[in-house]
Amino acid sequence: MNTLLSDASASRPGGDGEPTNPTLVIRGGRPLQGRVEVKGAKNLATKAMVAALLGETVSVLRDVPDISDVQVVRSLLEVHGVTVDDDGEGVLRLDPSGAVSAHMEEIDAHAGASRIPILFCGPLLHLLGQAFIPDLGGCRIGDRPIDFHLDALRAFGATVDKLPSGIRLSAPNGLHGADITLPYPSVGATEQVLLTAVRAKGTTELRGAAIEPEIMDLIAVLQKMGAIISYEPNRVIFIEGVDSLRGYDHRCIFDRNEAASWACAALATDGDIFVGGAKQPEMLTFLNVFRKAGGDFDIAEDGIRFRRGGALRPVMVETDVHPGFMTDWQQPLIVALTQAEGVSTVHETVYENRLGFTQALNKMGADIVVHSEGLASPDRRVPRRALEQAAVITGPTPLHGADVVVPDLRGGYSYVIAALAAEGTSHVRGVEIIRRGYEKFFDKLIAVGADFDVVA
Ligand code: EPZ
Repeated sequence: MNTLLSDASASRPGGDGEPTNPTLVIRGGRPLQGRVEVKGAKNLATKAMVAALLGETVSVLRDVPDISDVQVVRSLLEVHGVTVDDDGEGVLRLDPSGAVSAHMEEIDAHAGASRIPILFCGPLLHLLGQAFIPDLGGCRIGDRPIDFHLDALRAFGATVDKLPSGIRLSAPNGLHGADITLPYPSVGATEQVLLTAVRAKGTTELRGAAIEPEIMDLIAVLQKMGAIISYEPNRVIFIEGVDSLRGYDHRCIFDRNEAASWACAALATDGDIFVGGAKQPEMLTFLNVFRKAGGDFDIAEDGIRFRRGGALRPVMVETDVHPGFMTDWQQPLIVALTQAEGVSTVHETVYENRLGFTQALNKMGADIVVHSEGLASPDRRVPRRALEQAAVITGPTPLHGADVVVPDLRGGYSYVIAALAAEGTSHVRGVEIIRRGYEKFFDKLIAVGADFDVVA
């Protein structure tokens, strides 16, 4: 029985006097079964919205998820004079023709806990010759520096001044092409270069680029707008700057991180979940690990069916840049590995504090030890970094209900599936952050048979 707040709209907390950061009271111990639909990728849709600023005509973005990260970017676009219309079915119409400078206070007020504002730099510099970006938010999974971004913007000819509340940038003489080598294939820094280089004077060569599917989809968006972008297999991207870009009409790539999250929910609860919209090519690495861990999946035309194929087996996983195992996938997977018969290891190589969430899983009965140093592994795609950590998960350990507080987006999702896998009742506090990245989260939990209440 799912009791949403009695006197509140059932859709989402935060409206009409509802609590803005509710608690889920979850009664666990039963398999999740049913169908969920994943829409466009959170980590593409928000970037494509920023790209609309670069166009001289209207852009249309389809399959946009209804999540707070999208709302933050929409507000930031609107304070800069872009009109954004939403048809209520996931289609945004973005008209940049009225774009103007915005006041620092307005930008600060709308930046929220997102990291996307940093990607406004290039487009605003091209449009207005200046930009102010407030200090960034985002999940507490590491210190999330932006040095690669600022170095790239300086290489394009921008001046960058650090202010107490953020950074001010200017480029009164415009921006020119640059040769940039990223020390690490950073997704955000690659997006920063793409969104700046497409309108810079001359050619840009980017080495050490991220090549995630969401990056490729952003390149597709920019090419639709008139950009000239090519890439080589060794992470080198060439961008020929053009004088003007037009609007695009684009359907977002599906959210493979959300798809993987629901797959792990099925694994952890011995369930059976069909994820509509999921596609195999972008999930190949995940599907291999899912199968090795004892999961089973069927690829259909309209999605992927995920379920446990028998006893869960321990695995060794190392997170990596694409095409490796995504760092965003490891947190929900670890919940399932607590039920595997044996010892698993998860070596986190991307963020320095993305295993802290496991402490709460131990409170629920898991047996997870986190080592501050990573594991030596010869076949690394990127240079080894000092910040690596490794988790050793010994299973199977029956989970029991507990009172936990959500630490970050994927960690919070992981707590919910751990509570659903556990015997007894759990209180998962501060779930609003989960809704930052998972559209219609409560509705989907109901669709797979979760037994929970939403309380203040
Ligand atoms: C994007 O973050 C995603 N977020 C993350 O998803 C994802 O985990 C990450 O890419 C890796 O795939 C969005 O797209 C909004 P990075 P981003 O720049 O761009 C270091 C989620 O759950 N770094 O590739 O911030 C950084 O500290 C989120 O949806 C610098 O040192 O990731 C990290 O250790 C979590 N300096 C590593 O690079 C910089 O200037 C990877 O960061 C930039 C990054």
